[in-house]
Amino acid sequence: MNKFYEEASDLDKKDLLSKFRKDFLADERTIYLDGNSLGRLPVKTRGIAEELIRKQWGERLIRGWNEHWLDLTKRLSGKIAQIVGAGEDEIFVGDSTSLNLFKLAHAALEFQSGKNEILTDDLNFPTDLYILQGLVQNNFKGHRINTIHSQDSMSIRQEQIKKNLNKNTALLTLSLVTYKSAFLHDMAEVNEMTHQCGSMVLWDLSHAVGAVPVNLSKTKADLAVGCTYKYLNGGPGAPAFLYVRKDLQEKMRNPIWSWFGHAQPFQFDDQFTPAPGISKFAIGTPAIISLAAMEPGLDLVLEAGTENLRAKSSRQTHFLWRMISNELTPFGFVLASPENADERGSHISIQHENASQICQAMTEPKYGSKTVIPDFRPPNNIRLGIAPLYTSYKDLFETVVRIKEIMDTKEYEHFGKEIKNVP
Ligand SMILES: Cc1ncc(COP(=O)(O)O)c(C=O)c1O
Repeated sequence: MNKFYEEASDLDKKDLLSKFRKDFLADERTIYLDGNSLGRLPVKTRGIAEELIRKQWGERLIRGWNEHWLDLTKRLSGKIAQIVGAGEDEIFVGDSTSLNLFKLAHAALEFQSGKNEILTDDLNFPTDLYILQGLVQNNFKGHRINTIHSQDSMSIRQEQIKKNLNKNTALLTLSLVTYKSAFLHDMAEVNEMTHQCGSMVLWDLSHAVGAVPVNLSKTKADLAVGCTYKYLNGGPGAPAFLYVRKDLQEKMRNPIWSWFGHAQPFQFDDQFTPAPGISKFAIGTPAIISLAAMEPGLDLVLEAGTENLRAKSSRQTHFLWRMISNELTPFGFVLASPENADERGSHISIQHENASQICQAMTEPKYGSKTVIPDFRPPNNIRLGIAPLYTSYKDLFETVVRIKEIMDTKEYEHFGKEIKNVP
C-alpha cells in the first residue's frame, strides 16, 4: 500500500492540470468519481446562472433575446466544435442526446434509401438501441437491426465490425467509449472501413468528449451526437450537441420540422423552408438557462486541452487499474474494463456480486469515513469515473483504501441489495 501512496503523492505533485481543481465546487470530505455521469459544478457557473436569472431574465425580460441569448447557440456550438475537431458550421448544440440521435439516424436512413440494415453493438447505451428500435417499428418498417455481440462483454474487435458490414448496411452506430466497460473504438479505422463499403457512421460521443481527444474532421466522420453534462461539466440535463459533416448537410433532412430549423423563423411563414446548413437540425426555442450554464465547463476543457486531459486520464486509469489488481482482486473484484489504456476511456469498471451494497457503503459511510461517490450499473458493475480536470491521484488511492476497508469490515452488509434509480 505504501508504494501506491508515495506514487500518488509524487504524481499529484507533477500534475500540470492540478490547478483546475480549484475551478470546481468541492468539499474535501467527498471523493467524486462520477464525473462520467454528471460532472462537477464549475465555480464560475454559479455567477453566470445568477446574473442570467436575476438581470437578463428578471430585469431585461424579452429584450434578453436580442441582447444576450440569440447568439448563444452559435457561440457554444463553436466552442464544442473546437473540442471535437469540427468546423463551427458543423455543430449544433441543443436538445438531448436521444433526440439528436433520432434526428440523425432518421436522416441517415432516409439518405441511404435502398439499404435496410442498421448495424450496432451490444455495448451501446440503451437509449441508442431504443431509438433504433423505435425507428424500425415506426418509421422504417422494412429495416432490421444487426447487433454485434461482444465476446468478452467488454470490447468489440474491429474484425467483428468488418465482418458485419455489407452492401446493405445503411448505417453503423456506436458509442465511441462504451458506457459500462469504457471500451474505446478506433474512430478513424471504423470510419474508413465503413466508408469502404459505402455506408456511414453515427457516433455517440457522450462518454468520450472532454476526456478522449476526438477529431471528427481528421477522421472523416459523417455524423455524431454527444452530451455535455459528463466530462464537459455542463450541468444536469444540459443540452446535447450534434455534428453533420459539411458536405452531407444539404443532402440530409431533419425529420422534425419546426420554427427554429426554418430558414427565416421570425418571418412567421406558414410554409416550412429548412434553414441552410447545420441550423436546419434545430427544433424549438433553445433552453437558454441550461445553455448559458454550460459555457464555463467548455472553457475549462478548452483551456486544459484534450490531449493533456487524455494523457492524465490514461495515467490515472493505469494507476487505478494496478492498485485494484493488487489490493481488491483478493476480495473477489473482477476488472471489467480493457487492460490496455489505449483501448479504454476515462473510467474503470469493477464487478462484484455485492456491487450494489458496496456502492451504498461508499456513498453513505457508517463510521465517519470520507464519502466516495462512484456509480452502479446493474447487475454487478461499479464504475469509477476519472475526470482529469479535477480528480487527483490521492482521490484514487483513498478510494481503493476505502473499498478495502468496506470489504475487511463487511460494512456493506448493513445495506440491502435493492437497486436505487440513478441516471
Ligand atoms: C452514451 C450515452 N448516450 C446517451 C445518453 C442519454 O442521453 P440523454 O438522456 O441526454 O438523451 C447517455 C446517458 O448517460 C449516455 O451515456
